[in-house]
Amino acid sequence: MDYKWWHSAVFYQIYPRSFADGNGDGIGDFIGMTQKIGYLKELGIDAIWLSPHFPSSNWDVGYDIKDYCDVAPEYGTLEDFKQFLAAAHQAGIKLILDLVANHTSDEHPWFVESRESRDNPKADWYVWADTPPNNWQSCFDGDAWTYCPQRDQYYYHFFMKQQPDLNWRNPEVINAMWQVVRFWLDLGVDGYRLDAIGTLYEDTDLTPHSLPYSLADVRKMEGDAITTEEQTKVSQVFGDLFKFQVGHPDVHDRMKELRLVLDEYNGDRMLVGEDENPDYLGNGQDELHLVFNFPMMRSDGPLTPMHIINNQTQRLSQLANVSSASWPCNTLGNHDSPRVYNRYGDGKHDAELARISIALMLTLKGTPFLYNGEEIGMTDLIIEDAGLLRDTMATWYYNEMVKDPKMDKLAAARKAGIRSRDKNRTPMQWNDEENAGFSAKGVTTWLPINPNFQNGINVASQENDPNSLLTFYKKMLRLRKNHPALKFGEYDLVPQGNEKVFCFTRAFQGNALLIAINFSASQQKVQFAGKNTRFRTIIFSSAQRAPNEVTKSELVLGSFEILLLGE
Ligand code: GLC
Repeated sequence: MDYKWWHSAVFYQIYPRSFADGNGDGIGDFIGMTQKIGYLKELGIDAIWLSPHFPSSNWDVGYDIKDYCDVAPEYGTLEDFKQFLAAAHQAGIKLILDLVANHTSDEHPWFVESRESRDNPKADWYVWADTPPNNWQSCFDGDAWTYCPQRDQYYYHFFMKQQPDLNWRNPEVINAMWQVVRFWLDLGVDGYRLDAIGTLYEDTDLTPHSLPYSLADVRKMEGDAITTEEQTKVSQVFGDLFKFQVGHPDVHDRMKELRLVLDEYNGDRMLVGEDENPDYLGNGQDELHLVFNFPMMRSDGPLTPMHIINNQTQRLSQLANVSSASWPCNTLGNHDSPRVYNRYGDGKHDAELARISIALMLTLKGTPFLYNGEEIGMTDLIIEDAGLLRDTMATWYYNEMVKDPKMDKLAAARKAGIRSRDKNRTPMQWNDEENAGFSAKGVTTWLPINPNFQNGINVASQENDPNSLLTFYKKMLRLRKNHPALKFGEYDLVPQGNEKVFCFTRAFQGNALLIAINFSASQQKVQFAGKNTRFRTIIFSSAQRAPNEVTKSELVLGSFEILLLGE
């Protein structure tokens, strides 16, 4: 296998609006991010995925782009971007950007021109129809077809109506987007995370979905779903609702072209798709480099050994079926999902479970993606005042709910707050001073700051505390750096009869490690047989173990212990 930098890199997602406010306007920016490069280097990550930093109408906080080749004024200038990129590279950190290719903002000059008339040069750059051709829904705000009086026609949008879909069947659109790709690659960025890549093409027959539901109905079901069974049912309904709008096979041809563009550049530029379908890896050489292992995230409540074991078995065999060169990519959190700390917590042992989450990310086979703030245990902040919501998808949901006169407004606001992605996008907590060191004192931040910054959930309080989560992250990141088996090794499950424990080996070029994780609060015994009895040296333990303690074929793991043994 020909290993590239991204095989072993640990990625860290920065959500620019919430990372560090360098100019005191309550919004994160490049000056702030550049000042934090030292922090990231010290943390020990290798690459940054930056969520969109382009001028945007901010209906979807950056994911509705007005200009692909510039920097949003609230984040700074192109010069500030270049300085950030140079500082990252100087620190040995790679940078990948977010490519939002499916849609633009409705204020993008391309759309402004397209909607002017039916025969302007960009008339066919978006997806237009004389009448709504089917019952398709947008995944954010109701009907997927929105009327445009200038053209007396409807345009298609998979996301909000302020995010019209580009027409990827028009070669001019394809060329324009590949030029955008080159613009940033020319500046030296190391690759792209491809936003919602499965939504580029729709069913050409425009086949209607066959469900008796609208988006509002499904959102209501989602809001009411409590049990895992109900939640699984809702995800199936979502899948069926959108099945003619996502995953069209024509995406593969575009990914092949995009890969060729990237391969023209030196430095092993890379692509990671926001999709879980390994088919986007093509033959291992001709489409994307990585797609996310999203199925691993699908557990509301603590992760269990069984969940991880099943996930790894399925995922690794799916990847192997695609090509021998395909490589896993694991993540537990991002700007669209609840915070790792509370999502996989149980309310009682959250601190211990958060350590297990990061241990999994850094010891399982594959490239890990972490999300800013998880390293200090940031938690969701449910905004219960609908007026403070900035995630317009949640505002839409609130407005739908309160159409029902029987709906209690406070209850609706709470539901919208829970559904909203604002809860996991609140500003980074740097210290315990006013505004958590994110913005200067006295400034109103774009989203409220989670008040738990005063209770030790901040970088400054954790930095010098040997027992903090942040220190644990740093230790685990260093451990991974020092052990090639953790970066490149093959994964093998170690069968050992105790369902509270997850135990596996990673082996690379004659070096092997055994990783044993106790997912329970009580001591657990594990018995090894055969070749697995050879692991006798303690490399790392999250518990208090004597460093030279030699283990035998039977091992007793302490409460939530994470143990790494060498031969
Ligand atoms: C992706 C992004 C999400 C955004 C959507 C539309 O799923 O991660 O934040 O709202 O695409 O661009």
